[in-house]
Amino acid sequence: MSKRRNEFPQRESRQSSIFGDEDDEEYLENAKKYILEHGINPPKPRHLKGRAIGMWHSKMSKLRKSLFLENASQEEKLFDNAMGDISLTRAQKSEIKSVLEGLPDKAACSSDSYNNIEDSEFKKKFLENINGKLEDRIGKMEVEQQNAYLDQTLFEELEQKLTEEEYIEMLERRSSLPCNKMKEKIIELVETHPVVLISGETGCGKTTQVPQFLLDHFIEQKRGSLCKIVCTQPRRISAISVAERVAEERAEALGWSTGYQIRLEKVSPRNRGSMIFCTTGVVLRQMQVDPCLSEYTHIIIDEIHERDIQSDFLITLLKQVIAKRKDLRVILMSATLNAETFSEYFDNCPHLNIPGFTYQVKEYFLEDVLLRTRYNFEEYATLRQARGQTLKVREFISLIEPHIKKLKEENAYDQYVYDQLRSPLSENLDLSLIYSLLLYICHSEEDNGAVLIFLPGFAEISALHKLITTSDDFPSWKYLVIPLHSQMPTIQQKEVFHKPPYGVRKIIISTNIAETSITIDDVVFVIDCGMMKVKSYDKYSNSESLECKWVSKANASQRKGRAGRVKPGVCFHLISKARYEMLETYTLPEILRIRLENVILTAKILQLGKIEDFFAKLMNSPDPSVVSTSLELLKRLEALDDNESLTPLGYHLAKLPLSPQIGKMLLFGALFNCLEPILNIAVVLDYRDPFVLPVGREKEADKKRRELADRCTSDHIFMHNLIKDFEILNDHEREQKAFCWEFFLSWGTMKQLCQLKQEFMQNLEELGFVPNTKPNCKQCNCNSKNIDLIRAVICAGLYPNIVIRSAQGAQGRRPISALHLLNGKRVEFHPKSILAKQNLPFPLLVYYNLVKSKSMYIHDATPVDPLHLIFFGDNFDQLTERGQQFITINSLKFRCTQGSSGVIKALKNKLNNFLEYQISHPNVVDLRKRNEASTLFKTIIEVLKGNGMSNYPYNSNEWSNYIEPNGLIQGTYVNQDGYLVLSYIA
Ligand code: CDP
Ligand code: MG
Repeated sequence: MSKRRNEFPQRESRQSSIFGDEDDEEYLENAKKYILEHGINPPKPRHLKGRAIGMWHSKMSKLRKSLFLENASQEEKLFDNAMGDISLTRAQKSEIKSVLEGLPDKAACSSDSYNNIEDSEFKKKFLENINGKLEDRIGKMEVEQQNAYLDQTLFEELEQKLTEEEYIEMLERRSSLPCNKMKEKIIELVETHPVVLISGETGCGKTTQVPQFLLDHFIEQKRGSLCKIVCTQPRRISAISVAERVAEERAEALGWSTGYQIRLEKVSPRNRGSMIFCTTGVVLRQMQVDPCLSEYTHIIIDEIHERDIQSDFLITLLKQVIAKRKDLRVILMSATLNAETFSEYFDNCPHLNIPGFTYQVKEYFLEDVLLRTRYNFEEYATLRQARGQTLKVREFISLIEPHIKKLKEENAYDQYVYDQLRSPLSENLDLSLIYSLLLYICHSEEDNGAVLIFLPGFAEISALHKLITTSDDFPSWKYLVIPLHSQMPTIQQKEVFHKPPYGVRKIIISTNIAETSITIDDVVFVIDCGMMKVKSYDKYSNSESLECKWVSKANASQRKGRAGRVKPGVCFHLISKARYEMLETYTLPEILRIRLENVILTAKILQLGKIEDFFAKLMNSPDPSVVSTSLELLKRLEALDDNESLTPLGYHLAKLPLSPQIGKMLLFGALFNCLEPILNIAVVLDYRDPFVLPVGREKEADKKRRELADRCTSDHIFMHNLIKDFEILNDHEREQKAFCWEFFLSWGTMKQLCQLKQEFMQNLEELGFVPNTKPNCKQCNCNSKNIDLIRAVICAGLYPNIVIRSAQGAQGRRPISALHLLNGKRVEFHPKSILAKQNLPFPLLVYYNLVKSKSMYIHDATPVDPLHLIFFGDNFDQLTERGQQFITINSLKFRCTQGSSGVIKALKNKLNNFLEYQISHPNVVDLRKRNEASTLFKTIIEVLKGNGMSNYPYNSNEWSNYIEPNGLIQGTYVNQDGYLVLSYIA
């Protein structure tokens, strides 16, 4: 090594750039030569210090990788990923062969006719679905008959209300809303046009009033029995809170004229003469069964300006529906943002704008806030909440310096402000800055009006909430601090609408939910942090992220408007004016930001034909390359066939309210009788992680989490254990709460997860795969303790989300490893994954969430065996090289002992056919019984125990050589490219 070092020209120390001069062409050329010759990095330049060393390393590894890829043949690339050996014992092989011989051949489903599916309710529905078209199903509906008796009753009931004090009081309040002036016009337009667009300032009464105008008009005309209105909301919280508000305005309880329906919760209103507020997803689901929405006379799609995928989808569908259902009335409602585009989209439908009455709002930016608070970024730097993104310092400098220069010329602020503006920390989300500003508002501003603070997400909200409520500056007798977030319990949310007692100031900390969907009347001050959480999809890395991003100008303006509801107000944007000028005008529609598998499945189950044609009809069509990635995944999962039609599996997956990957996992869990563990995993993946983020106690929480995980080496199985532990405390609320408290879990989320299990069971029961809705039913759980099988089923769902762990070098016998995706991209475990920091020896893992923030993070992973991939991944290929058999799957390659690959192939084919059969003949598989399926499945389950990876030792110092329980000595070594290779020696 030391000899090699001397061969490489070292340079004199230079300090001109952070890279030293290792950036220049000549240096790189030399480095290339060196790497090609020696196969390793050149020696590190001696003068490099600190961060520069890291940057040099990363530069060299990129160089090495590019050189390797340039020079490697296809085979070498495959071999590069060779992940170990597959061996079946002679006994296993003959056992498998005899099983296979004894089993009948199930003919593979051929997508041409599906003739070989036996007649069943499933077959009927499935064929109807894949052969039908939405257009043909619309129009076939029964028209609701008018009911004179009901008309009269509803009429009298409404008349009666006019004598009730409560109702009259509400009516007076309602009549002062700007919307009220337009009542007649709204009714008239809706009567005479199939589609009407209503826009208006937030808070003018669109959501709460328009449905009531329409309903009451029908009732007054004694046609009440002919009216049923559905109004969609983009969020659960608004569906509930609006329904409650409307019922209150009508001096009624929920369930009479007004109801709501969201996932997991429903209060139905009376059948006719009523209004129901739903999340958009609920209506889309109803359309699967009843595409013409025959139950309703009016459909109101609210908040369409948000451009969430569901309402975009619904709007597009409705265009087709109204072409056939001439009596249906569609009302689109939006905030005043770019309302015209919606009207254009509906062939210039009439557009009614409701002029609002908002008061003037003074608008301030970061520079003004600094001037007032004299806040110092550096001083509070340790308290600062990281935004989860390294600042692009250069971009920042080029933005801020010209701005400061301009401000100086105008003599607008003082030097202190300029100095602070210059700090890159000024672009971070800084809770202590918000705190200081709040102090300023509460002590210096005369008005005692409510303060509304916009923050990106739950974590920030709870951190600020804590900061404020635990401080002496904001005693509880003087300040009422209310967090507002879509996932908070509804009771807590209602508080925001109440007027606090005299002398108490209301401080609301909210996500962008308070931007348009919830109006709090008494707000006078708004603090806009300038950021929000945005879900986005990166097609290059195929990863989704929920990132904190700058808001758009439209958001900023909506936020500002919230301050002027009752009197002139003030809005502080915590971004510099220069940053503000750089903001996008609008946020991108969601359809352009997310992955599309679910959308495609929904479109398929709704019989919308070729996906390309449907996407072309949307207001904005998604990127074709994202569409094809999603189509490819669905084909890989065997949810779609080559003609892009649903397969039987795809049909089930589309029926499950889950991502197709989790859906597939769930179906396999049922088929292989390890349902409950998979159910537990599915709910967490689908809903959310129940762990809370206690600000200031992160380390303690992490420790507790790991303590709870014990020696578990899979995040997914950990999720299962967690729910199991929680459920053991069955109905003992106090104990459950104590358990949650101890381990930093959210009790509410845990309860919801358990509820969701019920929902999924209902779905599976409807599909016919489980005998009842008990997650722990015996028939479905005889393998629920078989960890190898559970890992295999996880793999079935999550494939092809594979991570490879490869060694980057070694410190003594302790390897240092790195994680890569199949495309070579480097990833890391997110610190919250229990696999993080453990350096466990699993070379192959599957994951569900890959999120890009500071780096590419794997949030959850499970180690899998090659055999899991082989049986539950794609179809694999066999390959013989120099007499050695290999199995390749995706770009992975496994060495097979003689004769193994043929047997495995035969078994896999049989499994595929059987799975196809089971999926197209939904039935409860009970592996405790003796039959063909159970014989085959049991054989597979036996094989899956395979290399018994769950028995790996935990201490990474020990794992390079040890004895497996089944007598095989296994070892790992680092090959010359620095990759970890597993070897199984017979
Ligand atoms: O939909 P839009 O933003 O036009 O207004 P809205 O949500 O119908 O709100 C009209 C009025 O009802 C506002 O003054 C709200 O504060 C009030 N409201 C309420 O008090 N409680 C609710 N849950 C919803 C609205
Ligand atoms: Mg509204």
